[in-house]
Amino acid sequence: MPAGNPAALGAHTTSLMRLMVEGGNSPDTQQGPPRKNMPAYAGKLTNTEMAQVLTFIRTTWGNNASPVTTRDVTQLRAYIYK
Ligand code: HEM
Repeated sequence: MPAGNPAALGAHTTSLMRLMVEGGNSPDTQQGPPRKNMPAYAGKLTNTEMAQVLTFIRTTWGNNASPVTTRDVTQLRAYIYK
């Protein structure tokens, strides 16, 4: 995930939090490289730990985006039941 990635640094952190909670996949292509999976962190990290990791990403390597709070992660997880 390169510095400046808008999914990581945007003002709206919903997608970023959701990706950590649920994991994700690289795109499915017919002739490109095979699909790769990113693991889900639900059940592995606490909401506070997820907030801390995401805040670290958003404020390191020259990034200067707003923090992600435990409350943000807790609210998102309540909303998606995960
Ligand atoms: C734009 C955001 C992101 C996208 C699109 C993304 C996508 C992916 C993909 C496609 C993989 C599989 C790579 C491979 O196997 O070659 C992966 C792996 C991984 N991702 Fe993400 N990711 C993102 C953000 C994050 C964040 C925020 C974290 C946690 C801080 C994270 C943690 C990891 C880890 C630890 C792996 C490696 C798992 C392993 O090797 O077993 N990723 N991610």
